[in-house]
Amino acid sequence: MPTNQERVAMITGGNGGIGFATVKKLAAKGYHVFLASRNQEASRKAIEHIHAEQPDATVESIPLDLASFESIRACVSAFQAKRYPLHLLINNAGQMFDSKEGRFTADGFEITFGVNHLGHFLLTNLLLEDLKRSAPARVITVSSSLHDPALKQGPPTDFDYDNLKAEKYFDAQVFYKNSKLANIWFAYELNRLLEGTGVTSNAVCPGFVPAAIGARRKSPFSKFFFTQILAQMPFARSLDEASDSYLVAATKPKFGSEGGYFIVDGEEKRSSDESYDEEKAHILWEKSLAWCGLDGMRSV
Ligand SMILES: NC(=O)c1ccc[n+]([C@@H]2O[C@H](COP(=O)([O-])OP(=O)(O)OC[C@H]3O[C@@H](n4cnc5c(N)ncnc54)[C@H](OP(=O)(O)O)[C@@H]3O)[C@@H](O)[C@H]2O)c1
Repeated sequence: MPTNQERVAMITGGNGGIGFATVKKLAAKGYHVFLASRNQEASRKAIEHIHAEQPDATVESIPLDLASFESIRACVSAFQAKRYPLHLLINNAGQMFDSKEGRFTADGFEITFGVNHLGHFLLTNLLLEDLKRSAPARVITVSSSLHDPALKQGPPTDFDYDNLKAEKYFDAQVFYKNSKLANIWFAYELNRLLEGTGVTSNAVCPGFVPAAIGARRKSPFSKFFFTQILAQMPFARSLDEASDSYLVAATKPKFGSEGGYFIVDGEEKRSSDESYDEEKAHILWEKSLAWCGLDGMRSV
């Protein structure tokens, strides 16, 4: 069991990239960190790495595949069986636009939307009582500024309920952006629903982090281009800078008492106009409850 002073955090997708950089910082701050991941061997190595640098770190892994409702429920049951408090949940894992054809979760949803939004929606809802009991507590959901069509970077979002399973067409970039818009709708709606509970909900964008993207590239040229060329550009953020943004959301006193913000480079920024549409956020919430089999959980 954690000591009375110890804060407990769970982060999804913390084996590599920005998530791993964040786990190291949380551990250094004395958090007991649950690294929730679908690859336990990679988690074991990640934890070994942290212990080599920080022998007293309390980091443990817990299996979680966000592309499976069954796995998400099993992860929450395993966590709850330990009877730990939960002060911080970081919904970081992300399925990127790395395939030309639509792929699907175990429950039949297009995988980008299924993992980035629905998986985190179910995980967070199942952990809400733990968070409320542990208040003050925070939920941080990682989105991306790319959700904003005003950026004019590639095709804009096209949030169409009749195409969430790629029934009409699949475009990896559009689906990624849609999922990141859903992340913000979710973060803002959750914050409204949590009013008065002592739990806040904010969205974060880590910025463009070529080091994280490049690490996953298979082609040596692409890896080099991202990690050595793009990473040097002034618009790029390092893993350290990106994880600092998460830490601001996780520790700045203001975000412990106020939520509903979009935090970029550690500061509040305006998200897309559409992301502030409360009716759309509400509709997504209701539909997500039904898709995840959580009907009747409107009042959190
Ligand atoms: N890098 C950027 O430029 C950038 C920009 C804006 C926003 N973001 C967002 O930042 C977050 C972190 O991205 P990153 O750049 O650090 O990428 P990353 O290194 O690829 O990390 C993504 C993580 O998500 C995990 N993941 C993917 N599918 C999963 C599933 N089904 N179940 C459980 N975990 C799953 C991966 O797990 P495995 O280790 O098992 O593969 C990995 O640990 C993402 O939400 C991303 O959308 C990134």
